[in-house]
Order: sequence, then structure tokens, then C-alpha cells
Amino acid sequence: METNDTRRRVFSGVQPTGNVHLGNYLGAFRNWVALQERYETIYCIVDLHGMTVPYDPDDYRRVRLETAKVLLAIGVDPDRSLFYLQSQVPQHAELAWILGTITPTGALNRMTQYKDKLASGAPANLGLYSYPVLMAADILLFRAELVPVGEDQKQHLELTRDLAERFNHRFGETFPVPDPLIPETAARVMSLTDPTSKMSKSDPSEKSRILLLDSDEAILKKVKAAVTDSEPTVRYDTEAKPGISNLLEIMAACTGRSIDDLVAEYHDAGYGRFKEAVAEAIIETIAPIRTAYRRLDDREVARILAKGALDARSRAEALQAEVRAATGIDAF
Ligand code: TYM
Repeated sequence: METNDTRRRVFSGVQPTGNVHLGNYLGAFRNWVALQERYETIYCIVDLHGMTVPYDPDDYRRVRLETAKVLLAIGVDPDRSLFYLQSQVPQHAELAWILGTITPTGALNRMTQYKDKLASGAPANLGLYSYPVLMAADILLFRAELVPVGEDQKQHLELTRDLAERFNHRFGETFPVPDPLIPETAARVMSLTDPTSKMSKSDPSEKSRILLLDSDEAILKKVKAAVTDSEPTVRYDTEAKPGISNLLEIMAACTGRSIDDLVAEYHDAGYGRFKEAVAEAIIETIAPIRTAYRRLDDREVARILAKGALDARSRAEALQAEVRAATGIDAF
């Protein structure tokens, strides 16, 4: 990892809640990998965030490591990116507390992800409520300027921008105001079983999502079973044909072809043939991830994470000192 870097700084995070899926990959992780070429990149497995919904501690240990392995398999490169577990860097939680003191609760009450989680049965707790404040702390702790995320994180990013401005105004210029980086296609990959809601790790139906570690057969089966409509032409219309439009977006993102180009080729092909082509495009995109995942050694991954945490802590300490001084809680 380079130090004294003057390139623009990128930060992003993922919750280690298992079931890493095609939406995560196309919406965010693919960008994470590409950005390593041009920017200074910091990628964090946000295991404090993951604790805000009920979980099993032993299972969590396994899933945290699995998430790290998936990201390494995708191409997150610990020699080029700072890569670590959030829980191992206590400065995240301290900054979240400080930002919490300038966060209006009205802003948190408006967070749609919080409301969605409660509606789907998650218990209302303080951690879940203040989740977006911890997310702001993650980003600001490293003074990141760019944040590659899927569309669903836009509102959280707006709060982060607002908190950076509030802090600067109240305590002096400290943080840059970060910009979200959202891809043009597949910024919101939809569920295969209900194409009006997003593909999600927590959907009870396995068939709703393609996992990055799914076998070729499972991918083909899930795409073939994807909910569509009864009018048999392939065209892009998110209102009338959300299922087909979702598959078109996925295929465009996997092949790099435009949606118009795909519609021209598959308009009259029939859903059966179109779905086979979509499945093939997905398999070509994610099969190499599965292969790379199998080659990874758990102990080596643990070593990479330990080294990342050490580096992240020493970098976070510098900002921690500045923030403590600015807010009047430095040591005498
Ligand atoms: P998480 O773990 O839910 O998702 C990780 C990334 O995947 C994107 N994503 C999607 N993109 C397109 N279509 C979908 N169906 C889809 N589902 C998920 C998410 O937008 C995200 O980019 N709050 C964050 C984690 C976080 C974070 C941060 C992100 C904590 N601190 C700081 C950026 C910066 C989250 O829940 O991601």
C-alpha cells in the first residue's frame, strides 16, 4: 500500500451478513476493483454494522472471513488497497459517537432503509437507528472523497455529506464532502422472484438472488425461474416489464453491451432463449470468482486482515487526534 498518496481517496464498505450476491457485485464491488487502478482505495468489512440485526456470534466469525475471501476473490488487492475489518479499528466507533452529537434525530427518522428493516421484522434498537451515523464515520475517518455504492446507499451518503458540512461549520474545516459513485447500469439489481424490490441478502427466498458462489447449474436454474410477464417480446420497460428489464440490465452490465443492442438481438427470440443467454453472461462474469475463492487459504486471509487493521489503526489515529483537538476532548 502506498503512503503519502496524493490521488483522490475512495472508501467503501460491505456488511458481512453472508449471501454476497450479483447485486452487490454489479452495483458496487466491480467498481471497487476498477478504482484501484486510479485512486487510493480503502475497503472495509463493516462488522459493527452487521451486528445491528439479530445474528449468531459463531456463525458471524465464519461469515466475516467468508466475506473477506469473496472480496479478495473478486480482485480487491491488499497490496493496493487498505483492506480490514471495521471492529478492529476502534476509531470508527469514537467518531460515530462524536458525529452523533451533531446528528438531528429527524434526519434518522427519515432513513428509508431503517424503516424498511423495521417493516421486515428487525427489532428497533439504537444501533440500527444510528447505523447511518456509523457509516458517515467510516467514510469521514479517512477523509474519503469518493464512495462507490449501489443506488440504495444514496440517502445514507446524503446524510454523510450533511454531517461533514455540519462538523466543518461547528468545529472548523476538517472533512471533505464526499461524492457517491453509482454505476450507470445495474445500480439497483432487482430480485428474481419479485422484480419490483431489490435483490437482497436478507430475502427469505434463495431463488430471489444469484450468489457469487452459486454453481453454473444453480445460476441457470434461478434465471430460468425468474419472474417475468406474459407478453413475449424482450424490451426495456421497467413499469410494464420489470422482470425482463432487470434481466436486460444484468446482461448489459455483465457483457458491456448496451440495452438497445441486446433488445435488437433478443426482441423476438422468446423468453427461453433470452434467459439462457442471460444465464450464460452471468456465469462468464462470476465463475472466475468461484475459482479464485477456492484457491484462498483461510490463514493467509486472516494474516491479510490483521495487517490491514494495523495499517488502518495507525492512519485513523492521526485523524482521531485532530478531531479530539477540534472538539475539545484532547488530553491535557
Ligand atoms: P451492503 O453490505 O448492504 O451492500 C454492499 C454494497 O452492495 C450494494 N448493493 C446493491 N447494488 C445494486 N443492486 C442491489 N440489489 C444491491 N444490493 C446491495 C450496496 O449499495 C453497497 O454498495 N451501508 C452499506 C455498508 C457501509 C458502507 C459504509 C458503504 C457501511 N459503511 C461506508 C460505503 C461506505 C451496506 O449496507 O452495504
